[in-house]
Amino acid sequence: METADRSDAPVIVVLDGPAGTGKSTVSREIAARLGLSFLDTGAMYRAMTYWLLQNGVDVDDAEAVALASAKPVVRSGTDAAGPTITVDGVDVSGPIRGTEVTSAVSAVSAVPEVRARMVELQRHSAEEAPVGIVAEGRDLGTVVFPGAVLKVFLTASAGIRATRRAAQLGVTEPTGVAEILADIERRDAADSGRAASPLAKAADAVEVDTTLMTPEEVITRIIGLVRERAAVPAS
Ligand code: DC
Repeated sequence: METADRSDAPVIVVLDGPAGTGKSTVSREIAARLGLSFLDTGAMYRAMTYWLLQNGVDVDDAEAVALASAKPVVRSGTDAAGPTITVDGVDVSGPIRGTEVTSAVSAVSAVPEVRARMVELQRHSAEEAPVGIVAEGRDLGTVVFPGAVLKVFLTASAGIRATRRAAQLGVTEPTGVAEILADIERRDAADSGRAASPLAKAADAVEVDTTLMTPEEVITRIIGLVRERAAVPAS
C-alpha cells in the first residue's frame, strides 16, 4: 500500500461508543486500509487495571488507584497490522481480555489520575504516528482529541451488542448471553454515569447506528467520511 508523507498535523480519526458496537474491529480495519496507525485506548485502561490487580491494589479504593497508577509503564504499539500492548515491557494482550479485568476496568477508568496519564500517552501516540491515527474509545472526541478531523459515535442496541460479544467469546447458551447483556448494561451505566470524562457523543460527531449494519458497511461508510475531510492514501 502507498503511504502519504505527513506534512503537518497528523490526521486524527476517532471512534467512540459503548462496548460491543464493533469499534475495535472497524477502527483497526479502517486504519489498515488507509495506511494510518491504530490505537485501542480501552486496551490501555485494561492494561493499567491488570497491573493494579497483579500488584494487589484494591481497585475500588480510588485513592490507592490514583497513587499506584503512576508506577506502571503502559505502551501501545500502533501498527494496525499488529497492534501490541505491554506493561513494564510484558505483553498483556491476552490477560487484559479476561473476566477479572473486564469486571474491574470501569472502576479504574473512573479515577481522574488514571485518565490524565492515559490521555497524555494517547496524545503522544498520535504525535508519533507517521501519517495519522484511528483511535477508538469513550472520550476521544470530547476530551482527548477535540480537533480530530472526523469524530464518529457508534451505537447499537444492547441486545445486538450482547449477541455479538457472545459470538466472539463462543458463548451459545441463553443464560450466558443474558449474563453478557447484564455486564454490558452495567458497564454502559458506569461509563456514561461517571464524573470524569463520561462516555458521551461530541457535539460535532457523526452518529452511526450499527445495529442493522455489517462490519463492511460500517467500514465503507466511515472511510467515505474520512475521504470527505482528509487527504489519505488510496486503500
Ligand atoms: O473498549 P473496552 O471495552 O476495551 O474498554 C475498557 C474500559 O475502559 C471500558 O469499561 C471503558 C474504559 N474506557 C474509557 O473509560 N475511556 C476510553 N477512552 C476507553 C475505554
